[in-house]
Amino acid sequence: MIQNIRGTKDILPDQIGQWHSLERIFNEVTTLYGYKELRTPIFEKTEVFSRSIGDNTDIVNKEMYTFIDKGGESVTLRPEMTAALVRSVIQNSLTQEVSALRLWYFGPFFRYERPQKGRLRQFHQFGAECIRSPYPESDVEIILLANQLIRKAGISDYQLNINTLGNDSSRTLYKDELTKYLTSNKEQLSEDSKFRLETNPLRVLDSKSENDKLVIESAPSILDFLDDESRNHFDVVKSMLDDAKVPYKIDPKLVRGLDYYCHTVFEFKSGALGAQDAFGGGGRYDGLFSQLGGKLTPAVGFAMGVERLLLIIENSAPEQVIKQSDCDVFIVCMNENLLKDAFKISEMLRSNGYSTFCDLHRRSMKAQMRETNKLNAKHCIIIGEDEIKRNAVTIKNMITSKQVEIKIDLLHTISFS
Ligand code: HAM
Repeated sequence: MIQNIRGTKDILPDQIGQWHSLERIFNEVTTLYGYKELRTPIFEKTEVFSRSIGDNTDIVNKEMYTFIDKGGESVTLRPEMTAALVRSVIQNSLTQEVSALRLWYFGPFFRYERPQKGRLRQFHQFGAECIRSPYPESDVEIILLANQLIRKAGISDYQLNINTLGNDSSRTLYKDELTKYLTSNKEQLSEDSKFRLETNPLRVLDSKSENDKLVIESAPSILDFLDDESRNHFDVVKSMLDDAKVPYKIDPKLVRGLDYYCHTVFEFKSGALGAQDAFGGGGRYDGLFSQLGGKLTPAVGFAMGVERLLLIIENSAPEQVIKQSDCDVFIVCMNENLLKDAFKISEMLRSNGYSTFCDLHRRSMKAQMRETNKLNAKHCIIIGEDEIKRNAVTIKNMITSKQVEIKIDLLHTISFS
C-alpha cells in the first residue's frame, strides 16, 4: 500500500464539515472588517522567501521545500503567505488606489519540520494583512480581527502575548546590548544558542533549553531600549486593547521566528495544544515591501494554523465539533420497479434545495430503512405500488416517527429541513 508523505494529512469526509464551518467563520469575520481574499500560487521563486523571512531563520535554513524546476529555476513551496502576498501586491500595484489595503487568505503551506502533534509538513493557515497604515490603530484592528475569529470559532481558553521589537534604531541598540550579555554568558548556552548568538542573537530568546532559559531570565529587556516613537506606538496598542477589553500579557522575550518584524509582535497560545502551543501569530513588517523591491510601505498582519485551531476545538470545546446530518431525505422504495419514481422525486427535492439520497444497491425495504438511520436522515419518503397508483407517497419524520401520506404534486410545499 502506498502511504501519504510523513507530516501530511488527508482531510476525511467526516472531518470536512468542521473545516467548512471554520472557512465560513473566516469569510464572515473578514467581511465584517472589510477584508478581501487574495489567492496566490502555492509556489514562488525561492528569493521571494529567502530575501524576506531571513537567511538565518529556521524556515529558510532548514525547512523550505526548494527545488530546481525543469527550466533551471529555483522554486519553493510557500512556507508562509506574507512574503508571497507582498510580492503579489507590488506586482499588481494593489495599493495604488486605496488608503488601506485589507487582505485575507486561506490555504496550504509547507515546512520541512519534524512532525508531531500540531506540527505538520503540509498545514493550513488563515491570515489577514492590513497594508499602508504606519499607525498602531492598524495593529489593533488586526489583533481584534484575530481575536473575534477565535471567539467565533468557540474558543475561550487562550492567551494573547504581545511585545514590541521597536523601530530599527531601538532594535539595533538592543541587539548590541543583548549580544554583549549573551557573549559574557556564552559558556552556559546550548550549542544551538551559541550558533544563533553569531547569526541571529534575538532568536536565542526563543530557546526551549532549560539552561538557556536561566541565562535568558536575566537578559536585558527590549522594553528598556525603546525610543519615544517606539514606546508611543506600543503604548497606543496596549491602551486600545485595554479599551476593547481584550486581555493580553506583555512578554518582552517574544521575538517570533521570522526576521521581517518591527514594532508590535504577538502570539495566541492555548494550553490545549501541548508543546506547539502557539496557534496564531503576527506583527508589523514595515520594511518588507522595500526588501522585495517595492516602495516603503508599512504593514501589519497575522496568520493562524487551521489544524491547531481544530485541535483546540476538539480538546477544549468538543460541543463545537460539527455533527453533520448527512441528508434531509432518504427515499425508500418497496421494490426495484419504483426506482424510476424515486429518482424523479429526488431530483425535484434537490432542485428545491434538499439533500436527497436514493438506494443504489436494490436492497430490501428493511435494509433501506437501516441506511436511513445510519445516514442520520431527517425524513424518509416511502414509495409503494399502491400509493404511486394514487399519485402519492408517505413521508416519515425520523425524529418524531410521525407518518403522513401526501400527493406527489404537493411535495414541493413541504419543508424537509
Ligand atoms: P508563523 O508563526 O510562522 O507566522 O505561523 C503562523 C501559524 O501557523 C502558527 O502559529 C501555527 O499555528 C501555524 N504553523 C506554522 N508552522 C506550522 C506547522 N509546521 N504545522 C502546523 N501549523 C503550523 C507566519 O507564518 C507569518 N506569516 C504570520 C504573519 C502574517 N505575520 C504577519 N502577517
